[in-house]
Amino acid sequence: MYLLQEIAHSYQGRCVLTIPELTIPSGQVLAVLGASGAGKSTFLRLLNFLEPPSYGRLFFQGQAYSQQPPPLPVRRQVTMVFQRGLPLQLSVWQNVAYPLQLRGLAADEIAQRVEQILARVGLLALASQSAKRLSGGELQRLALARALVLRPQVLLLDEPTAHLDVKNVQVVEGLLQEEHATRNVTIVLVTHQVAQAKRLAQQVAFVQAGQWLESTPTEQFFQQPQHPASADYLALFGL
Ligand SMILES: Nc1ncnc2c1ncn2[C@@H]1O[C@H](COP(=O)(O)OP(=O)(O)OP(=O)(O)O)[C@@H](O)[C@H]1O
Ligand SMILES: [Mg+2]
Repeated sequence: MYLLQEIAHSYQGRCVLTIPELTIPSGQVLAVLGASGAGKSTFLRLLNFLEPPSYGRLFFQGQAYSQQPPPLPVRRQVTMVFQRGLPLQLSVWQNVAYPLQLRGLAADEIAQRVEQILARVGLLALASQSAKRLSGGELQRLALARALVLRPQVLLLDEPTAHLDVKNVQVVEGLLQEEHATRNVTIVLVTHQVAQAKRLAQQVAFVQAGQWLESTPTEQFFQQPQHPASADYLALFGL
C-alpha cells in the first residue's frame, strides 16, 4: 500500500525524520512508538500527503507521490485523526455528517451512516448536543466517528486514546479491531501506550530523534527488538 525509500524530511533546514526503507502492506496495523518530538506526527503527515517529503520517494498503491500529492479521489482513501482535532461549532450529528456532505452523498445515505457510527461510538444519545460541550473522552470518540464514517482504506491515528480512561481506551480499541476485521482497513497508529501497540498492531516501529530505527513484527519487537534503543524504551515500561 505504502512504500517509502530514503526519506529525509526537514523543517527550516533541520532534518526531523529519516526513514531508509519502509513498506506498509494493505490491511496491516502498524504502531509507531517513540518519545515526544521523535517525528511520529511528521510521519503521519507524510502518509496523509499533507506535505511532500523533502527528500526521498513515497509510493502509494504503486504510484510515486514524492513531489506532489495524489489527486483528490486517491487522497480521500486516506483519513487522519489528528492529535489535537477540534470539533466544528455544531451538533455532534452535524460534525459527523459534514465530511459526508462535502463528498456529496445523498441525504438518506448520510443519515443512515451517521446514526450507525454514532451508535457504535456510544454518542447517539448526544447527537443533538453541541460538540463543544463534550468531555475529552467523548471528543476523542467523535473524532474517530468522523473518520470511520468515511470508510477510508487507510486510517492514520495520532494518539487516539491519549487522556482516555481505561473504559474509553477499551471502547476505542474495540472499534479499531472491529474496523480492521470487517473492512481490512490499513491502520497506522501513533501511541505512547506501549501495551496498546502490543494489543492492536502486527508490526511495531520505533523512532528516536527523527531516526526510524526499526519496524518489526509485534511479537519479535517485544521479545527481541532489533535496536538497543527500542529495548531501552521498552524497559521504561517494565517490558
Ligand atoms: N511545521 C513545523 N515546523 C518546524 N518544525 C516542526 C514542524 N512540525 C514539527 N516540527 C518539529 O519536528 C520534530 C518532530 O515533531 P513531531 O510533531 O513529528 O513529533 P512527535 O513524535 O509527534 O512528538 P509528540 O509525541 O510530542 O507528539 C519536533 O522537533 C518538532 O518541533
Ligand atoms: Mg505528535
